[in-house]
Order: sequence, then C-alpha cells, then structure tokens
Amino acid sequence: MIKAVRGTRDLLPPDTALWNFVEATAREVFRAYNFQEIRTPIFETTELFARGVGEETDIVSKEMFTWEDRGRAASEKGQSLTLRPEATAGIVRAYIEHKLGDRGLNKLFLIGPMFRRERPQKGRYRQFYQINAEVIGPASAGSESPARDAEVLEMTATLLNRLGITDWNLQLNSVGSSQERVKFNEALRAALEPVKDNMCVDCQRRALTNPLRVLDCKVPEDQPIIETLPRITDFLGQESRTHFDAVQSILTKLGVRFTLNPRLVRGLDYYTRTAFEFTHGALGAQNAILGGGRYDGLSEALGGPPAPGIGFAIGEDRLVMTLQEKTPAESVMRKPDVYVAPMAGMNGEAARLAHELRQQDLVIELGDDSFRLKKSFEAATRAGAKYILIIGENEIKANAFALKNLASGEQVSVPRAELAERIRA
Ligand code: HAM
Repeated sequence: MIKAVRGTRDLLPPDTALWNFVEATAREVFRAYNFQEIRTPIFETTELFARGVGEETDIVSKEMFTWEDRGRAASEKGQSLTLRPEATAGIVRAYIEHKLGDRGLNKLFLIGPMFRRERPQKGRYRQFYQINAEVIGPASAGSESPARDAEVLEMTATLLNRLGITDWNLQLNSVGSSQERVKFNEALRAALEPVKDNMCVDCQRRALTNPLRVLDCKVPEDQPIIETLPRITDFLGQESRTHFDAVQSILTKLGVRFTLNPRLVRGLDYYTRTAFEFTHGALGAQNAILGGGRYDGLSEALGGPPAPGIGFAIGEDRLVMTLQEKTPAESVMRKPDVYVAPMAGMNGEAARLAHELRQQDLVIELGDDSFRLKKSFEAATRAGAKYILIIGENEIKANAFALKNLASGEQVSVPRAELAERIRA
C-alpha cells in the first residue's frame, strides 16, 4: 500500500470544517484591520532562505527540502530550489520585486503550507500550515511605529479570542537592533566560554555557531547556567528601549495582557526589536501557537530598499488542535437542511427540486430512486439532515410535498413555492 510521506498527513472531513472555520474567522478579522491577501509560490530559490532566514538557523542548516533543479533546455540554467519553510522571506522578496513600497504601507496576509524536515511528533509536521500577517513599507509610511507592533499584537489577540481560545499567554521581548544584537552575541559567547562544557551537546555547538540559540534550550539541567547569562535587555540602546516601552504602553491601554520574557529569541535570524510568541498550556512541549516580530533589516539583506516590517505566523495545525479540545468539528459544520428522497422513476423530478432549493441557499443531499423508503430514511439520518422530502408521482401532480422533520417525526404537506421558506423556519 502507498502511504502518505512521514511527517505529512491528510486532513479529512469532518476536521476540515474546523480548518475552514479557522480560516474564515481569520479572513474576517483581517478584513476588519484592512489586511489584504497575498499568495507567493511554495518554492523559491534556496538563496532567498539562506540570506533571509539565516545560514546558522536550524531551519536553513538542517530542515529545508532542497533540490537541484536542472534546466529543461540547454539555454535554461539549473538552480537550487527549496520548498518554503516559512513565508516572510518570500513576501519580502515579492515586496521588493513588485516595488510594493510605492504603495506606502502594505498590510498583507498569507495562508498556506510550509515545509520543514523536523522530527515529526504531535503538533510538529513536515508539511504544516501557517496563517501569516505582515505589515511592511517605507519608514515614511509609518512602518516603524510602535503603533504597528501594538496593532498586530492586538489583532492576534482578537483573532484567538474570536476563535474561543482565551487562555493564551503573550510572551514579549525586544531583541534589539542588529548592532545591539552583535554586542549581545559577543557577550553571550564570552559568558558561555567557561561554562559551555557543562551544557548539553546542542548548547556546546550553539555556543560556537549561534550563541543566541542557547537561550532557547529546554534541557532542565542547563537552566541554572542559562539563568546566569547576560540578558538582551541590558544591551538595548535608547532608541530600541523607547520603542519597546511605547509598544508596551499601547498594549496596556488596549488591555492586551503580556508577559515580558527576556529569554525569548525566536529561531530565525531576521528579527529586530519586538519579538513575541503566543503560547497555550494545552500544547505541551510544542506550545507556541504562533510567533513573530519585527524584521527591520530583512528587505536590505535581500537586496531591497529599507522596509521595516512586523508580522507573525500562526501554526494552523496547532491552532486547530487547541480548538478541537473545546469545539467539535460537527459544531461548525453545516449539515444538510434536507434529504430529497425520490420514489421509483423520480430521479429527474427530484434533481429539479434539489436544484431549486439549492438556488435558495439551502444545503441539499440528493438521494436515488433505487433506494427504498427505509434506506432513504437511514441515509438522511446518517447525513444529519434536518428534513426528508419525499418526491413521488402524487406529490408532483399536486405540486406539494411531504416534508418530515427527522428529529420530531412531524410531517406536513407543503406547496412547492413555500418549501424553502418552510425549511428555513
Ligand atoms: P516560526 O516561529 O518558525 O515563525 O513559526 C510560526 C509558527 O508555525 C510556530 O509558532 C508554530 O505554531 C508553527 N510551526 C512551525 N513549525 C512547525 C511544524 N513543523 N509543524 C507544525 N507547526 C509548526 C515563522 O515562521 C515566521 N515566519 C513568523 C513571522 C512572520 N515572523 C514575522 N512574520
């Protein structure tokens, strides 16, 4: 038997109803904040992610699905391509390529699959889905303002609340400008030098390649050492500090609760200043439902104009998992209003009636005249239909139909013209 590839999975009904509910709710919230949809290709040049996300990150150094794509013709050059592990680099690439900065401030969202070769486990997949939002533009359009950080964070909180996830925890930090981070990295490296040999093997490696990542370590034995390391907060310059204070003060005014977490550094290299994650207790080790932050230098790193930005990505798989605990998929699914049951020879008439009712925005499951009445009732019940509508020769002649409520058993004869209204009532 041929099976789905390890780390990938099929999303099946009824669960897909929950996915649709999440995406529809996200689109509604994005509309209220005037965000517009962008779609970018699911594969890009490998160079984009190497330069955008950073060579030293776990994502780029070991998790990308990359292949050498040979040209189809001698005139076409081969190149290294990669399935997108995240969306921000591609969105900023599109921003540069289409000169979106000419439009002022861009408020964009993107929903789609991402790919990382991670060790699969509950809540962690090799193909997973993200709901991304990004605000990016020239500084003159206000893209650097702390008001944008606060708006993005408040929008995220609103979306989670709207989905019924209210027990989230917003972890907030400022990782400083890139210059401030260089200094912090040096200080970390120096502080790690005498203690790193007492840490886990991952941290020993990180201490050399990317000391910031040590702060991410979850190994319990390493925690006392990590507590003694320098904090990014002590390396922030005046400008970064003022920006971060302003973000916090707007959030407080908005009533968005947050926890300052000076160890939050995020796993991608492009972040500057505001960085954040929303966690949720029920998710265990994979407890970040979403993460994001500012990336003020990303456009320049990709060869574009200065274009400060801030955004986030929700892990849709994890969001749906969280939701599933409270919201059964059936509760957001639209069940058939009517099961139309044709008697022998009535398939055509039944199809016509089903068409008419569907035109009036009713959900119709259409039966088959080879079914006996008992089997039609069973099928209607299994489909979760509210009513069954029986189509026989007499009904067609009278132009009135037996409409039976499957829950109460009540049956009435309803003229054709009044059917839709009656069913909706
Ligand atoms: P990230 O933290 O790498 O950020 O991913 C965001 C979210 O995607 C995570 O919090 C998690 O919920 C979900 N996620 C990540 N990897 C997996 C996986 N293997 N399986 C299931 N879910 C996963 C970014 O990707 C940034 N581009 C976010 C961003 C947008 N920053 C600024 N703008």
